Amino acid sequence: MRERIEKVNFLGKFLASSRSLDETLEMAMIISQDVLGYDHAIIRLLDQTQELRAVKWIGFPREAADRTIRLGEGITGQAAEQRKSILVNDTTNDPRYIKGVENCLSELCSPMIFDGNIIGVFNVESETPAFFSDDDRHILENFVTQLASALEATRLRDELGRAEKLSMIGSFASAILHDIRNDIHQLNIGADLLEMAPDDPARVVTIAQKVRKSAENIHDLVGDIFEFVRTGQTSVTRQKVELAPFMESFTTRLMASSRKDILVNLNVAGSPSVEADPRRLKRLLLNLANNGAEAMPEGGELTISAGKEGGAVFMEVRDSGKGIAPDRLNKIWEPFYTHGKREGTGLGMVIIKKIVDDHGWKIMVASEEEKGTCFRITIPQE
Ligand SMILES: Nc1ncnc2c1ncn2[C@@H]1O[C@H](COP(=O)(O)OP(=O)(O)O)[C@@H](O)[C@H]1O
Ligand SMILES: [Mg+2]
Repeated sequence: MRERIEKVNFLGKFLASSRSLDETLEMAMIISQDVLGYDHAIIRLLDQTQELRAVKWIGFPREAADRTIRLGEGITGQAAEQRKSILVNDTTNDPRYIKGVENCLSELCSPMIFDGNIIGVFNVESETPAFFSDDDRHILENFVTQLASALEATRLRDELGRAEKLSMIGSFASAILHDIRNDIHQLNIGADLLEMAPDDPARVVTIAQKVRKSAENIHDLVGDIFEFVRTGQTSVTRQKVELAPFMESFTTRLMASSRKDILVNLNVAGSPSVEADPRRLKRLLLNLANNGAEAMPEGGELTISAGKEGGAVFMEVRDSGKGIAPDRLNKIWEPFYTHGKREGTGLGMVIIKKIVDDHGWKIMVASEEEKGTCFRITIPQE
């Protein structure tokens, strides 16, 4: 007896650490079968309509498991209603018995109670009459008490997980949508201005530039969303990329779209090349460059470099901006971490890290407050 109780206690602790509801129920079945040696078993939980609905069973036909049981109905319903276990030695002589399986001759049923509330019942059955003893009854009672708290813990964990996910999606959506709405607003203003000054060529050019910038922003934000959604899967289509011409065309495009108070420099030495997905490499550099520019609200220098060093190829994006305080250096890689700007999404660095990891590269950051920041990517060469 002691040994069996110890087993149940030990396994109860194990139960408390299992993850999903299904895993907990599965473990509960394996453990209880081992300790009680029954022929059939069924776990029912009380649903929102206050009926006992089967969630896990062994040896029951589907139709029997599908049948819900009201409180007070049959042995199961009575155990739940009276909140105490019921031991039946001969089901053929018990008027409360409702047949679920052929050849069930004895039955033991224990209610699961948590915090004073009934949450379900655990039924075990045998094809042998008077199979279960009073010891078995104590063991099952002890076991379902532990199962009830394990189930409750699982439910809470699930709820928390869901809440967390919802709030992630919520902050993601609101950050991005806020930006997109802003840019759409700019597009509308552009259209209004064009209507007002259709014959002023200089103004039309300025307005067109603003409109193009807003459209580009939206394009990039949508790119961020896709990249973020795709973060779960790893697809890298590699090809040989010569960094000199690649970065040349990248910086040309960057200069055309960046603020006039930012000076963009490019240094590529020793004709480095890498195996990379060009589209993703561009996104990587663009995210680094955007962060660099955003760290220089009063203007400054953005230096993009590439070269070879110690058998590896490196790429660097350096800015002369406000830098990152040492205690924030680790946080920048966390999703939704944003600091020091009005409309950050906190996704840029996550995407950067993902692209670097997918390629099997390394990224390092060095930063000094009020001096600037340098991100360096190292690419080992075989
Ligand atoms: N070059 C940089 N200089 C200063 N701070 C930076 C730099 N790059 C990233 N950061 C910090 O890391 C944070 C997270 O960056 P990111 O994930 O791109 O999100 P977001 O740019 O939307 O805020 C930024 O808000 C900023 O505080
Ligand atoms: Mg960013």
